[in-house]
Amino acid sequence: MTASSSPSLAQSLHVWARNASNESALLRTALRVGLFDALPLEGTAAPASLDALARKLGTSARGTRSLLELLVCLGFARMDDANGFSLATSTSAFLADAGFRARLQAELPWWEPMGLLDEAVKRGEPVEHAGARWDVLQHYRELFLDSQPLSATPGAEDFFDRFARGAARTQLLVTAGRLGVLELLATAPRSLTELGAATYLSTTGLRVLVEVLAKLGLVREEGGAWKPSEEARPILEGKALAYLVRALSVSARYWEALGRLEETVRTERFILDLKDPETSRLFYADNSQQITAVFASHFQLSRKAAETLAQVRAMDGAQVLDIGTGSGVWGAAFARVTPTSRVTYFDQAVVLEQVRSNLERLKVADRARFWPGDLFTHDFGTQAFDVIILPQVLNVLRPETLPDLFARVSRALKPDGVLLIAEYVLNERRDGPLEHLYFGLRRFMTNEGDLLSASEYASLLKDVGLTSTVCIPLPTQEMILASRDGVTLPKSLAA
Ligand SMILES: C[S@@+](CC[C@H](N)C(=O)[O-])C[C@H]1O[C@@H](n2cnc3c(N)ncnc32)[C@H](O)[C@@H]1O
Repeated sequence: MTASSSPSLAQSLHVWARNASNESALLRTALRVGLFDALPLEGTAAPASLDALARKLGTSARGTRSLLELLVCLGFARMDDANGFSLATSTSAFLADAGFRARLQAELPWWEPMGLLDEAVKRGEPVEHAGARWDVLQHYRELFLDSQPLSATPGAEDFFDRFARGAARTQLLVTAGRLGVLELLATAPRSLTELGAATYLSTTGLRVLVEVLAKLGLVREEGGAWKPSEEARPILEGKALAYLVRALSVSARYWEALGRLEETVRTERFILDLKDPETSRLFYADNSQQITAVFASHFQLSRKAAETLAQVRAMDGAQVLDIGTGSGVWGAAFARVTPTSRVTYFDQAVVLEQVRSNLERLKVADRARFWPGDLFTHDFGTQAFDVIILPQVLNVLRPETLPDLFARVSRALKPDGVLLIAEYVLNERRDGPLEHLYFGLRRFMTNEGDLLSASEYASLLKDVGLTSTVCIPLPTQEMILASRDGVTLPKSLAA
C-alpha cells in the first residue's frame, strides 16, 4: 500500500471497532475447518463448486459460502465466472511455510483468554480459562510491542496481522472503552498513577493498554502523561467517543460467537441465536436504543428516501407501513415529509415502547399506529397500504422465509402501492462490498438472513407480482423499490 492510499486513523478505527474481529474469526475458521487446504490451487486444477467444497469438508453450504465470499473479496481466494473457487497462488505461498502455519495454529487458543482482557487489566495477572492460566497481557506485548517479522513471503505479515492482531485490536478497544480509560485519556493528560487512582485498575494492565493504544496511534506520552495524539483528538472527543464506545459494545456482543464460528460453520449450531425469542427480545431492545442514539444520521437517509418517492407519486393521505421499525426512523421520515400521511409501526412490543418516545420527540406520534406482532407469521391485510417499508429487516429472516413474507407484503399493498426495501445489497458476483459481506457473516452466525444481490431480490419480488424494481444506492446501504407494472418508480435519489 502506498503512503497516499494509507487509511486515516479514523478509517482504521472504524475497521478495528467493527470488522477486525469478524476478519480474524473468518481467517481462523477457514484454517480450522480446512478450507484453505480443500481449495484447488489457482491455475493448476479445476476450481471447485461450493457444494463440492462443503461436502468435502462436512460443513454447512451457507456457512462455507459466507467464508468463501469474504476470502474472494479479500483476495485470498478466487472465484471464476462459473462460481468455481480456488486458492490464490499468493495465499498458497505463505500457507505452505510450516513455521508460519505453526505460528497461526499457536494463536488459535487465545481467543477466549483475550475475551478476559478486562479482568487481566484489572488484576495485572494471568487469567484462568479452561483450567489453565493465560498471560493475556504478555500476549498483547508479544503481538504489538515486541513483535518480530515472521516470514519474508509477500503477504504473510499482512495475513498474520488480520488473523491475530485484528481481533486483539477490537478487544483492546472494547476493554479501554468499557473500563472508562478512553474517556479519561480523552478529557485530560494523565499519568499511569493518575489513571490507576481514577479506575482502580492495575498499573501493569494500564501500561499494556496505553502502550498498545500508542502503538495504534491513538495516544502518546508527553512528560510522563498520556493524552490523545493529534490525529486521534477529534475521534476521541464528546459525541464521537460516545459513538465509538457504542460501536465497540455492539462488537463485544459477538465475541463468543465469533470465537466459536467453526461450530456454526460445521453444523449450523448458533451460539448467539437470534431466532430464540428471548435472545432476540433482549438483543433488539438494546439495538433499538443503539440506533436511537444515531437517529439523526439515519434520519437524513430515510428522509431522502421519503422525498425521493414523494417526487414521483402523490403521498397526501398515504397509508404507510414500517415493518421491523426498530427506532421508527424510516416511518417517521415519511410522516415528516408528508404531514397528511399515516404511518403504522410494526415490531416486537418491547421495541415499540422506544419507538413511541422517538415519535413524540419528532411530533409525529399523533399520526402513528403501533402494531406489535411477529413478522414471521403476521397477516398485514389486503390492499391496505400505499407504501410498505422493509428497512434493514430482511437480513433478520432466514432466506427460505423470504418468499412467504414477500407474498404477505404484496397482498397488503394497494394495486399501485410501492414496496421500499433498505438493505445491504451485494454486487452481482456476491463478492462485495466488503463491509456488507462482514455484516452478512454476522447474520449467518446469528441464525438470521442472507444478503442478496439486486437481481436476486428482483427475482423473488417478481414471483409475488412485483414485476418492476429499481435499486438506488444510498450513502451506506441500498434502496430497492418495487411495484406492479405501470407504477412510476424513481430512478435516482432526490437532489
Ligand atoms: C436490524 S433491526 C432494523 C431496525 C430499523 N428498521 C432500522 O432500519 O434501523 C431489525 C428489527 O426487526 C425486528 N424483529 C426481529 N424479529 C422480529 C419478529 N419476529 N417480529 C417482529 N419484529 C422482529 C427487531 O425487533 C428489530 O427492530
